Amino acid sequence: MLRIGIVGFGFMGRMHYANWSKCENAEVTAICDSDPDIIENSKKAGGNIEGADSAIDFDSLEVYSDFDKMLAGGLVDAISITLPTFLHCSFTIKALEAGLHVLCEKPMALNVDECNKMAAAAVKSGKVLQIGHCIRFWPEYVKAKETVDSGEYGKVIAASFSRLGSAPTWGADDWFASDDHSGGVAMDLHIHDSDYIQYLFGMPKSVQAFGSPASGKGLKCISARYDYGDDKLVTAEGSWAMTPSFGFEMSFNIVMEKATIVYDCSREKAFRVCPGQGDEFTPDVLEGDGYMLEINHFAGLINGEKLPEVITLAQSTKSIELVRAEIESIQTSQPVSL
Ligand SMILES: NC(=O)c1ccc[n+]([C@@H]2O[C@H](COP(=O)([O-])OP(=O)(O)OC[C@H]3O[C@@H](n4cnc5c(N)ncnc54)[C@H](O)[C@@H]3O)[C@@H](O)[C@H]2O)c1
Repeated sequence: MLRIGIVGFGFMGRMHYANWSKCENAEVTAICDSDPDIIENSKKAGGNIEGADSAIDFDSLEVYSDFDKMLAGGLVDAISITLPTFLHCSFTIKALEAGLHVLCEKPMALNVDECNKMAAAAVKSGKVLQIGHCIRFWPEYVKAKETVDSGEYGKVIAASFSRLGSAPTWGADDWFASDDHSGGVAMDLHIHDSDYIQYLFGMPKSVQAFGSPASGKGLKCISARYDYGDDKLVTAEGSWAMTPSFGFEMSFNIVMEKATIVYDCSREKAFRVCPGQGDEFTPDVLEGDGYMLEINHFAGLINGEKLPEVITLAQSTKSIELVRAEIESIQTSQPVSL
């Protein structure tokens, strides 16, 4: 049985707990959170995606407020790092050096230098380090990639991706609002689509982005075009500017020569393939969601299973490079080459 620790027991910590609880051959044995009232506070914590609200059996968990004590306790073989982003690098390296496997939430870190240090620590430790780019595992996005890669419907003509919500308000000390702690809407939210675009098409030759500034520092919306030096038009937008009653939406349209694939999580008929000939249809997709599937993948890698490569450390580092280039493009009002 794989013994799991969760470090940072906020919104995503609870999401990882819920999904680790569904994983055969793994059990959550410990959590670590600096909040001394974490047991009480976890009952009223926020979040914008369903699934983090399973019952938590605190009696079966060792609860730490100090990560060094958790490491010294020897109760875990692997950890989920679900901490504010500015802590990903230091906690990941410490855990790898202590001999643990690490599933670290996206974004990998705040800059490429930190990513390189994390990747070097993973190589040195010989342990698994996976970054939680859950969209690469999200059933409809998995099916869309399979369909594009198969070439069944010809070449991609245009692809657009969207991820919209209001700014997260649940983080302690409003850490999401600080570019130095979260990287803002571009690094925290929009990176899901930048990373998926990289997964689908590779790195673009250049990127040009536009942004709407937030009050104070940073951005509240971003819209980007990824230039592949060919005819296809690839764009993505991310927003933290929606009014709270809007909720959260993620969607895409991939237009190919002989079919369009459409996904919009807010629609009743969320996923459709609309071929040039014949009626639209909804293809079968994997059961579960991206969180569960990425956790199963991570557990499989630890167990030495031969699995298809979904997310490498080089790719998750490239996603940081890509989003950093988008931010630079907004700041300079110029396309940025990659
Ligand atoms: N994959 C996704 O869809 C998705 C969605 C939301 C957030 N995230 C990512 O997950 C990470 C966490 O986001 P969140 O929404 O859970 O934030 P959160 O603020 O809800 O949770 C963070 C937790 O870490 C704890 N913490 C802070 N400093 C600590 C320390 N030094 N030691 C131990 N605990 C500490 C806090 O008390 C808090 O409980 C971020 O990197 C974010 O980008 C990913």
